[in-house]
Amino acid sequence: MTGQDSATADRQAGTSDGELAQTFSLAQPPAGFVDDPYPTYAALLTHAPVKKLGENSYMLSRHADLTAVYKDTALFSSDKTVEFGEKYGDTPLFEHHTTSLVFNDPPLHTRVRSILAGALNPRAVSALESDVEALVGRLLDQLEAKADRGEAVDLIEDFASAIPVEVIGNLLAVPHEEREPLRDWSLAILGALEPVLSAEEEARGNKAVTDFLAYLETLVARRREQPGDPERDMLTRLIQGEKSGEKLSEKELLQNCIFILNAGHETTTNLIGNGLELLHRFAEQRQRLLDDPTLIRTAVEEMLRYESSNQLGNRMTTGPVTFDGIEMPAGTFLTLCIGAANRDPAVFDDPDRFDIARRPNRHLAFASGPHQCIGMSVARMEGQIAISRFLERFPAYRLTEGAVRSRRLRFRGYTTLPVRLR
Ligand code: HEM
Repeated sequence: MTGQDSATADRQAGTSDGELAQTFSLAQPPAGFVDDPYPTYAALLTHAPVKKLGENSYMLSRHADLTAVYKDTALFSSDKTVEFGEKYGDTPLFEHHTTSLVFNDPPLHTRVRSILAGALNPRAVSALESDVEALVGRLLDQLEAKADRGEAVDLIEDFASAIPVEVIGNLLAVPHEEREPLRDWSLAILGALEPVLSAEEEARGNKAVTDFLAYLETLVARRREQPGDPERDMLTRLIQGEKSGEKLSEKELLQNCIFILNAGHETTTNLIGNGLELLHRFAEQRQRLLDDPTLIRTAVEEMLRYESSNQLGNRMTTGPVTFDGIEMPAGTFLTLCIGAANRDPAVFDDPDRFDIARRPNRHLAFASGPHQCIGMSVARMEGQIAISRFLERFPAYRLTEGAVRSRRLRFRGYTTLPVRLR
């Protein structure tokens, strides 16, 4: 049963939208929520845009509320020392996440961000473009050869997931033969961020941080001996620091390299997978893009809005705040529902319509404010090249039986997406 079906079934069984919103829980989401959360998001936006999830814990769904939270790092903290201390104890996962810039506030966040943003400068990003074109071309040849041999082709395994790990590997100049474990480390570390975590997932996450750190120590030591071009090689730039004299400590350097790999991996895989699934689902929009390939830029923005790879964010209040008349004390835990905010009818005309030419499109897929995604121009470039070249080569592609969606709530995408190319 699809999510749409189950939401309809809920209604038929007497669950109104109001009840759906009132009884919503992230720990036990309604049936069909993972497949299709949008009917629930719509119910929340209408009936409970500030939804109490538990003691001192709320979920916000409105675009305006998320934007206000993202803007104010003093009142809405990203620091997770207390929360992750309880969740992970004194473990590698704790040290990793609490050193990553995304889970820190100014002034540490500002300093680390400016060094990272300097290294991910427009020149470094545009230098990646020709590599991405070449990589995508090679992958498309491989897909074609696989299909010609009569083998099944999986859009995620054979295409979408192969791109981001290579791109970030190129940014940090990780030797090709050493890239294989990166993907599994990244999935294990991000998997450990899920709201509910098994002991096995936690152990996998901790081991991944330890192995990743050991690898990076050797990579950094080699790069110190043989530096690359700091205009192109992000790792050399991060090791050397900025011209202003700002430098990262060794721990900040290693943990934030891990973070960049993680941040840009699954999210971008999902952008490409979700984007191609959307063009399959909405055939008239696919035809529109085939007729006018210059629409690829707005098309990728609409894919980011319509099926955001990153559905949830978090903040903690540092002082009393009020949302929708509900007063919250300092120390309130906020879940920011990007997926709902991106369908907020107060901002998006006919929000459930997938429109590849939508303008304006002020989606929050990359958040906004001081923590807005540093890698968004990399992700956009990857998405635009991968999706447009795939469509050029296989304009009549069709998804076939056997799609498997990741069951995680924070990241939205597929683990398997079988496709017939012609
Ligand atoms: C479609 C792909 C991507 C999506 C949807 C995405 C989404 C996001 C979001 C929502 C945030 C804000 C988190 C928060 O503060 O709550 C973020 C932060 C970040 N992203 Fe991305 N991201 C993507 C790709 C990338 C890539 C390719 C890179 C690196 C090459 C990257 C690096 C970062 C970094 C370093 C931050 C932390 C920024 C800060 O805290 O100041 N992301 N991303």
